[in-house]
Amino acid sequence: MKSDELTKENINKLVIIFYTKVLNNEKLGPFFVQKLGDDMNSDIWQEHIKLLTEFWYTMLTGLGNYNGRPFPPHAQIMGLNREAFEKWLELFFQSVDKVFDEKIANKFKERSSIIASNFMRNLQL
Ligand code: HEM
Repeated sequence: MKSDELTKENINKLVIIFYTKVLNNEKLGPFFVQKLGDDMNSDIWQEHIKLLTEFWYTMLTGLGNYNGRPFPPHAQIMGLNREAFEKWLELFFQSVDKVFDEKIANKFKERSSIIASNFMRNLQL
């Protein structure tokens, strides 16, 4: 059943589905493995999953506790290119469609597209 509720539990599900795809993708996986390792059960990954759950909850409800700056860590990643961002969005959209109904899925898609464009502009890609 696709959900029509923006709960932290559902967003956590989305985040886990997304990073499972990312780690299995040969283009995108290495960027994450380099920084966080390849074991999604590790403490560092669990922290990342928690952070990203909070990030999306804050983005889409305005209620969460994420008050970090999303862009700076990406400036440290060597070799990022437009192709990587296109793959990121493709896997994110697929994940969103698995968890949420169309109305909520569209919110994630719109917001992620805008952020990805901003990141690419900041990185001059
Ligand atoms: C090819 C594209 C991308 C790659 C390879 C990538 C990779 C990463 C990596 C490795 C980290 C962990 C950095 C660290 O802990 O030092 C990270 C953090 C993060 N990413 Fe991405 N990312 C990408 C695109 C995006 C996009 C499009 C978004 C948002 C729509 C996003 C949102 C975030 C957020 C919120 C964090 C946590 C920032 C913080 O520490 O507060 N990323 N990303």
